[in-house]
Amino acid sequence: MNPQLQTLQKKQAGEAAALLVESGMVIGLGHGSTAIWALRLIAERLQQGLLRGITAVPCSTQVAQDARQAGIPLTDFNDIPAIDLTIDGADEVDPHFNLIKGAGGALLREKIVAQASRREIIVVDGAKLVQQLGARCRLPVEIVPFGLASQLRYLEDMGAEVLLRRTARGEPFRTDQGNLLADCRFGPLAAPEKLAAALEQRAGLAGHGLFLGLATDLLVADAAGVHHRQVRHLLEQQP
Ligand code: A5P
Repeated sequence: MNPQLQTLQKKQAGEAAALLVESGMVIGLGHGSTAIWALRLIAERLQQGLLRGITAVPCSTQVAQDARQAGIPLTDFNDIPAIDLTIDGADEVDPHFNLIKGAGGALLREKIVAQASRREIIVVDGAKLVQQLGARCRLPVEIVPFGLASQLRYLEDMGAEVLLRRTARGEPFRTDQGNLLADCRFGPLAAPEKLAAALEQRAGLAGHGLFLGLATDLLVADAAGVHHRQVRHLLEQQP
């Protein structure tokens, strides 16, 4: 897709999500070039007095800084019982609203925030829709540094082509937790839940970018405009 058009669609999707925020809500702020448009419009609506009493939980140190600069009050995650609504991006979205996330490196905090949210609103441009997860993107896996080599072997033995993520300066990329990231090409995933379970049972893997059954809303921007599809409300599903 033409990069300018893609940026426009990211803006449209992010801003549409910002309009779902209501006064008094506790909101989760996702990381990335789509979710940032939501953050900016929320800040603008606060400044204009169209929103009041918002507090936010950021999904990364970068987003915390962006929110502070934009004048969005942050709250201590430990002091709130739940997050009303989180707005976040994704790298791939399948027809069941399952996601791959983590190209920006904030996957673990994003998943923690998503699981604590009543609504997880995913904002994407049309290019992110796929028939099967893994079709285009590598799956990021967050690794505790101790025993890194054994984890890379484990991932390779699972069939992945593994790349340790590096910064532009060639140093290993560190997440906000001080962990490392392996970007794993598994190819199209016929059973993402099986892969997620295998990754979750391995000590030393701190997280992965498969977000299965977490999205409640999908806002997709394409040439025809923004489409809003609702999946379900997370807390309604809990016993
Ligand atoms: C951050 O770690 C990611 O999960 C992002 O939410 C995801 O990569 C989408 O980012 P963009 O909106 O920048 O494409």
